[in-house]
Amino acid sequence: MPDTAVDIGVVRLANPVIIGSGDHAMTAGGLRAGLATGAGAVVAKSLNESEAAKRQLDGSDHVLLDSLWRPVPWDFDPPADAMLFGRSGLHQAPPEDWIAEVAAADRDAARSGQYVIGSIILADLDTACGLARRYQAAGIRILELNIGAPHGDEAAPGAIVQERAATRVREITRRLREAVTIPLWIKLTGQSEDVAGLALAAKEGGADAVIVMGRFMALVPDVETRAPMLGTAGAIGGPWSLALTCRWLAQSRRKVGRDFPLLGTNGARSGLDVARFLLAGASAVEMTTAVMAGGFGAAARAVRDFDGYLARTGGAARDLVGLAADRQVGYGVQPDRPGYWRDFVPAESR
Ligand SMILES: Cc1cc2nc3c(=O)[nH]c(=O)nc-3n(C[C@H](O)[C@H](O)[C@H](O)COP(=O)(O)O)c2cc1C
Repeated sequence: MPDTAVDIGVVRLANPVIIGSGDHAMTAGGLRAGLATGAGAVVAKSLNESEAAKRQLDGSDHVLLDSLWRPVPWDFDPPADAMLFGRSGLHQAPPEDWIAEVAAADRDAARSGQYVIGSIILADLDTACGLARRYQAAGIRILELNIGAPHGDEAAPGAIVQERAATRVREITRRLREAVTIPLWIKLTGQSEDVAGLALAAKEGGADAVIVMGRFMALVPDVETRAPMLGTAGAIGGPWSLALTCRWLAQSRRKVGRDFPLLGTNGARSGLDVARFLLAGASAVEMTTAVMAGGFGAAARAVRDFDGYLARTGGAARDLVGLAADRQVGYGVQPDRPGYWRDFVPAESR
């Protein structure tokens, strides 16, 4: 049996697969189905107290696109190149109801060595601190705060906030750190020119772990209707996001140090992708699109396939963390490949 356990500070996960927050994790049934996949943890759908954010859920719309921008059916069997483009909102239940459900699910999870993680998306900082205290009082063992939701600029005023300034990230984290003592994971935007700098700011503010990184805002023109698909800009992510996330994981690792736990999100679709994220510096990986588009079976497959990968290649999961990140060499001439550039230009241009 390969050793798939990973540590994120004081938290030990049985394996590095985490089902990320999203609309599949918005009911007690969804949280139970997530745990049944064998994933190390499930992040519950986020809430805040903004009425605008709740209303926004009713305006949610999504489309799956292949890599040639053609819509593909939403039949829970997506092609490997499927990208998810769309817009979403936040949980509509009164916070006390959802917090109680998430806490109950986390109690169940504890019995099987798993976790259900409570999640807040930032709107108002004082309110977020209050919600964090309520999560802790309800018995939740890990809290995630997303301060980088991609829709921050498009959403209705006051609905959600996307923080791109290190000073704000440090201050917000510090305030939440003062509010609760349970492990606090900060989820960052990918739409920053210095994601690694934001990771450092969250560490300095007292985060126990940092999640790199949110999806990107996009506009997809439809050549038939000549209108934007879904009528608006929206968030996008695809298998290609993995490489961008991995690069920021590696940069963040350099900045925050090898001992500070990072988590990866944005681009993982399979067990091998989980390994890729670990090699880039993540200690665990949050998968959302794979489950939204492919059903909970996609997470169960990722757990199995990661297991199979470790069994085939050897070693323990925790030993993979950062291996590829730390083997990067500079852009100088590679001794075994001098003048290699000629192979990449047409013969006429050499
Ligand atoms: C429909 C949808 C809803 C989401 N809702 C939330 C949310 O409520 N809170 C949150 O922190 N992230 C949310 N996310 C972001 C995901 O948790 C995840 O970080 C992101 O989609 C990138 O990972 P992926 O490539 O595995 O999808 C949502 C993503 C999608 C696609």
